Amino acid sequence: MQIKNICCIGAGYVGGPTMAVIALKCPDIKVTVVDLNIDRIAAWNGPIENLPIYEPGLAQVVNKARGRNLFFSTEVDKAIDSAEMIFMAVNTPTKTEGEGAGMAADLRYVEACTKNIARVAKTDKIVIEKSTLPVRTAEKIKEILNKQGSSGVHFEILSNPEFLAEGTAIQDLFKSDRVLIGGDSSEKGQKAVQTLVNIYIKWIPKEKILTTNVWSSELSKLASNAMLAQRISSINSLSALCEKTRADIEELSKAIGMDHRIGPHFLKTSVGFGGSCFQKDILNLVYLCKFYGLHEVAEYWHQVIKINDYQKKRFAQKIIDHFSGDLNGKKIAILGWAFKVNTNDSRESPAIYVAEKLFKAGAIMEIYDPMVSKESVFSDISFYWEVSKIKDLKSRISVNDSLTTLDLSVDAAAILTEWDEFKNLDFSKTIVFDGRGVVSSSKYSIGKG
Ligand code: UDX
Ligand code: ADP
Repeated sequence: MQIKNICCIGAGYVGGPTMAVIALKCPDIKVTVVDLNIDRIAAWNGPIENLPIYEPGLAQVVNKARGRNLFFSTEVDKAIDSAEMIFMAVNTPTKTEGEGAGMAADLRYVEACTKNIARVAKTDKIVIEKSTLPVRTAEKIKEILNKQGSSGVHFEILSNPEFLAEGTAIQDLFKSDRVLIGGDSSEKGQKAVQTLVNIYIKWIPKEKILTTNVWSSELSKLASNAMLAQRISSINSLSALCEKTRADIEELSKAIGMDHRIGPHFLKTSVGFGGSCFQKDILNLVYLCKFYGLHEVAEYWHQVIKINDYQKKRFAQKIIDHFSGDLNGKKIAILGWAFKVNTNDSRESPAIYVAEKLFKAGAIMEIYDPMVSKESVFSDISFYWEVSKIKDLKSRISVNDSLTTLDLSVDAAAILTEWDEFKNLDFSKTIVFDGRGVVSSSKYSIGKG
């Protein structure tokens, strides 16, 4: 099948950058990214320096393709109608109520999106799962499309999970370690797989495009994230032991990572991992294991989350203990709010948790992140913090929009996102805590307690 029109439902962290790169690399295909969120689409169509997502290199890609063959729109039905290929890149948060609450993926957006496709489609479509979904979701999608779709319209479902990491999304999309495409073994299924391969082959070497069955592809995404997060929880658990024994966690990481069977990546100790994927995907995996009666396997993966919670708690507690349990009237600088460097995304950021604990222990806080706005910080606080109405919130928390207005003569500073600009700050007047569990009373340097 010759693809002339692609539609992507969901203009978020996954849909936006992925489609921008596909449009850039395939100038002969019209790519339309649609979303129900009017403000988000307006921002994608607005000034290039104010795109809704901050991602190094993204603005340049959008600038080249936007208006040429890349379009952002709220006209979801129209884009579905004219596309031969539809990517689903909608959000799949953790369920908050009902069966599997707190663990299973909430598939309501995927379901709504599928029903929308079924209602509108009048010609055959290749429907691609881009969002991370529990294994065997394709079966449900197929059922809805076949039941509710127009008769005579054929839907082929593919799984093509996104492996990009925020902060390096554009590089990850340009030079992917692998592109995974799962499809049905039937003739039509394999044809659909080939159609998608033909798109990626324009810039990804053939040997890096891996085709599998749908279920392996769906599960590989969850499993990859679980394995990566497991390494972080492993090293973070060892950082606690290092602090007791005066071993240096960075030296440990280096020594471990030099074993080529282990490798150096994802061994950096931190305040804990954050982001929209790891926690959500592991909980999803735990739920799946429980669903299939594999309780030991569920418990094994659950431990990765528990260590992450422990690490965040341990970090905040260390600061509280430093002030003998009483932070009343103490001024703490919270440096960094994003869940990692080079993104404006703060979903599940450890900073949110650490700040909550410090605030509840009485601290006065000065928060600064170069990419996260004041509005986002307060919206995270009202969404994540366990007390909905905290008195004196605004009198004890100030969010700075510039580093120059930040007062560093505070009682302590906590570096929670590793932005480069924090590396050269003059911390001579305060005590600094960071992800390495280091307490530095002079410079931001390692090992001096
Ligand atoms: C992750 C996966 O890497 C990506 O393949 C998948 O598609 C989505 O989930 P992302 O969450 O964007 O990507 O960022 P990642 O770089 O994986 O970092 C996740 C968290 O782990 C961050 O909070 C980061 O600070 C932390 N981390 C990462 C560590 O604490 N130590 C490390 O060594 C690496
Ligand atoms: P991700 O990090 O997975 O990209 P985001 O939350 O950033 O997640 O983006 C998902 C986007 O999908 C949101 O902008 C949301 O408005 C959009 N979305 C969810 N459901 C639908 C739907 N049925 N139709 C169109 N857009 C949708």
